[in-house]
Amino acid sequence: MSSGSLDVIEFLLTTHLYDEHHELDANDLPPWVRQVFWHEGSVERPLRATVETAREATDLDRPWDAVSELMFTDRDEFSGTLELTQPDMAEQWFLDRAADRVAANPTLAFAFEDSPEVDVDYEAAREANRPLQADRAWIDSLLEEHFGEEDEEEDGENMLDLVDIHAPEEVEMTLDDLVLTENQEAEINKIVKAIEHREYLADIGLREIGKLLFVGPPGTGKTSTARALGYDLDLPFVEVKLSMITSQYLGETAKNVEKVFEVAKRLSPCILFMDEFDFVAKTRRSDEHAAIKRAVNTLLKSIDDISLIQDDVLLIGATNHPDQLDAAAWRRFDEIINFPKPDDQMRADILRVITREMDIEDFDPHALAERTEGLTGSDLRMVLREAVLDALTEERTDLTQDDLVRAVENFEERDNLKDLDMIEGDHDALVAGGDISGAGDGGHSHDH
Ligand SMILES: Nc1ncnc2c1ncn2[C@@H]1O[C@H](COP(=O)(O)OP(=O)(O)OP(=O)(O)O)[C@@H](O)[C@H]1O
Ligand SMILES: [Mg+2]
Repeated sequence: MSSGSLDVIEFLLTTHLYDEHHELDANDLPPWVRQVFWHEGSVERPLRATVETAREATDLDRPWDAVSELMFTDRDEFSGTLELTQPDMAEQWFLDRAADRVAANPTLAFAFEDSPEVDVDYEAAREANRPLQADRAWIDSLLEEHFGEEDEEEDGENMLDLVDIHAPEEVEMTLDDLVLTENQEAEINKIVKAIEHREYLADIGLREIGKLLFVGPPGTGKTSTARALGYDLDLPFVEVKLSMITSQYLGETAKNVEKVFEVAKRLSPCILFMDEFDFVAKTRRSDEHAAIKRAVNTLLKSIDDISLIQDDVLLIGATNHPDQLDAAAWRRFDEIINFPKPDDQMRADILRVITREMDIEDFDPHALAERTEGLTGSDLRMVLREAVLDALTEERTDLTQDDLVRAVENFEERDNLKDLDMIEGDHDALVAGGDISGAGDGGHSHDH
């Protein structure tokens, strides 16, 4: 039996049972079924199973062909509607072949919970099913509903340019891929617990929770950690760069800030990530444009007004320049989480994590860690990338410890370049021949 026919029958059974049991809601549909039925921000009954929707859900080019032989299926040639003529028979057929799939499909688990043929628990299936706010399709339909029409007006369009929204399913890095300090782990656990027990916290009147500030130098994992949290908690991730908000239409800035918070509330539960938070500090200086000052005040006020407990929005700010933040900005966060440059042990762990999929001869992460004092996680990734690319130029895909050591050395030279003063500084390094790569390739000299 091809899995194609199982997919199509599961699709037909799910839509059929979902329509029959009105106590079920969209969170009872597996994401792959749900995704084809979004309409203006909701999934409405009846779910129309057609050749078209079945194709989209199952990824089969010819879903009807996969089930046309079965005697309990029917297709309306004209409308493309697919139907189970004898649902009981379809259920039996499915249970005989794919009872193991029921646990991953809350709608089926609900219908078959009491059946002696499968051992499933509806609550557990629902718990394990990805919630709808984690679906890209849900996010898009919501944005379309609330901001779609404005697109034609002047400011609707650039609104969605201001924020970058990631569905959890799109996040590439999870917390497992990140090496965190003990303190970071403890803080993250705290927030995970707070989210789990939101209702309790609301009941006891603890509302000042759920605003985090990540501080640390570039490349220490602030953005990655925030995104990974979105993935692990199944929350959409709304990212905004504060400098972007002011880049275009100064007069609109305060309004844009309000809209960002509006988007976050509409998408809630979600994470609102505000990068470059030091922007707030810079613009509070007296010589700034009045519109920007207004925007910053709006921002601070919006932060006050938003709450994890009431609005289901977890706010995370990030900055490379904590020293520039004033008390007004600082006190709005209930937890400050430090992202220091990694120490020896962490660097070794990061090297281990980022090379997990690779086989490296004589790999000695500790030795590398000792040579990479001062480098961040992001630097280490770059080192690895260089080592891989260098090996590729020699037609090698097998890497050795030596390759990594060499890449570290090159990285350090490259890093020195960053500190050179390009105008008045060390001219030797700025003309070809006195090059910084040290490899002596000198191949790209320019005629001056
Ligand atoms: N502790 C870490 N463990 C694993 N990977 C890390 C770590 N820190 C940084 N990285 C990697 O470095 C890259 C850059 O990290 P990220 O963008 O999260 O840094 P950032 O702190 O947000 O930097 P910036 O301040 O420049 O925005 C990512 O690919 C990330 O996975
Ligand atoms: Mg970042």
